[in-house]
Amino acid sequence: MRLFVALDLPVDVRQRLGDSSAKHAPLSRAYKWVRPENLHITLKFIGEAEPGPADAAVAGAAPAHPAGIIDALTKVSFPAPVDIGIDGIGSFPNVLYAKLIAPDSLATLAAAIEATLAPLGIAAETRPFTPHLTLARRKEGARLAIDDAGARENFGQFTATEFILYQSLLSPRGPTYIALRRFPCLKS
Ligand code: 2AM
Repeated sequence: MRLFVALDLPVDVRQRLGDSSAKHAPLSRAYKWVRPENLHITLKFIGEAEPGPADAAVAGAAPAHPAGIIDALTKVSFPAPVDIGIDGIGSFPNVLYAKLIAPDSLATLAAAIEATLAPLGIAAETRPFTPHLTLARRKEGARLAIDDAGARENFGQFTATEFILYQSLLSPRGPTYIALRRFPCLKS
């Protein structure tokens, strides 16, 4: 099963992002836009985890077991809610994303999740954590100029009080994300 850890979004922010994507998607067929219900802020991509004996989760020996991952994530330090603003659109070479205005505690949380999962053999990212919210991924063809995609739109703000372990079910119609377990912060 394919897993990742992410923050969920409140309805109003999701609506604004979805409206923006619906407005801008016709500008370019080169991009696959994330369906509004699938929008999230990824903290850690885990990849394949193996349903099987929990003790198979030996570093590097086999894909980690979901129960071991859940157990590890319950130990992550998440002391207080994180206020996140979502303001403007930016781009990586093949991704359009909504920019996040977030305190260092968000990167600290992502690092804590990564450190907790590393002993289970889940590879650490080689790139530094860049807070972002993926809106669209380029499949082929020309890049969309950021100004066309609403670089200056403000999508609001919210307070993250939990992070979530998601399962990603892939299908030809696109992924479906299922929340497997929620991990609230201590002061939620
Ligand atoms: P993104 O938000 O940075 O695009 C669920 O699939 C999430 O996991 C995606 O939103 C994506 O994060 C991230 N993801 C998917 N495949 C990945 C991969 N091969 N390596 C790293 N992150 C990946």
